[in-house]
Amino acid sequence: MRERIVAPTAYSLEEEKIMVSLRPTRLAEYIGQAKVVEKLAVSLAAAKGRGEAHEHVLFYGPPGLGKTTLAHIIANELGTKLVCSSGPSLQRTGDLMGILTNLGEGDVFFIDEIHRLSPAVEEFLYPAMEDFKIDFVVDKGAFARIINMPLKRFTLIGATTRAGMLSAPLRGRFGIFHHIDFYPVDELARVIRRSAGLLAIKITDDACGELARRSRGTPRIANRLLRRVRDYSQVKGSGEIDLAAVNGALEMEGIDALGLDSLDRKFLLTMINFYSGGPVGIEALAATLNEETDTLEEMVEPFLLTIGFLQRTRRGRMVGKAAYRHLGLSRDDANNYPQERLL
Ligand code: ADE
Repeated sequence: MRERIVAPTAYSLEEEKIMVSLRPTRLAEYIGQAKVVEKLAVSLAAAKGRGEAHEHVLFYGPPGLGKTTLAHIIANELGTKLVCSSGPSLQRTGDLMGILTNLGEGDVFFIDEIHRLSPAVEEFLYPAMEDFKIDFVVDKGAFARIINMPLKRFTLIGATTRAGMLSAPLRGRFGIFHHIDFYPVDELARVIRRSAGLLAIKITDDACGELARRSRGTPRIANRLLRRVRDYSQVKGSGEIDLAAVNGALEMEGIDALGLDSLDRKFLLTMINFYSGGPVGIEALAATLNEETDTLEEMVEPFLLTIGFLQRTRRGRMVGKAAYRHLGLSRDDANNYPQERLL
């Protein structure tokens, strides 16, 4: 996929470094997700009070909303070590064995994109999560034996964009589930205000609000846009970010009033133009757009679904009424849309 300024995942190591510097390290600093924060405060205090490892936690929700940040906060609050990995990078059971056997009492092991674990690695994780032991086979054939190795009691934190893609046995081994949802505009404005403070950026209140409205409910996107608007304002404006700087910078980036970019618009317009607004299957759409279905499902659809621009029905995806209005179209325009405006 080409780089999108509104991609909810970090797209470079450099950006990851900046994001890390903006990340809250304590629960008290974390803005938004009030219910999750409240429940975490209780489970953390309880585990600490009992001197036990915290229960295994699964965070699920769209990318860029702070699942990794929360894992860091949990380890910080517990005063234990955090080891980070991800489903796609844990290829072999040997890798996992190395990590698990090195965990200390109460340490936190974070697996991002946990729905992408291979079946063998996932199965290896079951006894580790449940009984804090690992089983591995030594020798071969008639001499094969299972060796049982105890582990320290650790906390597994899993993050996934799709809880539905987790197998039932893996899901069943988590004790606590937290859904992380898109941030409302006022909370996102507070995130932007905090980041601006940390980066010594001056920004007016209305600019902060406008940026929040156009960051599709995602702190990572808000922080990225904040840096783009800072550049714009430094070069073309006064240095302080005002509404004009936000509008100018986002127009240059092709981001509209609701935070949609060209891929979002192309996605909706393709449904309208080629498939009469739906219902259409995601595979057909992906083929027409020349994108991966995973990209569309994880990076494009979640926000469009939340704002009612897209509906998922059993027969396929459909464009919502609000999307037609936003694009300045009516449902009669379906299939009659001029091809050149798709580009
Ligand atoms: N930076 C990114 N996400 C944040 C959040 N939820 N609270 C505070 N700062 C953040």
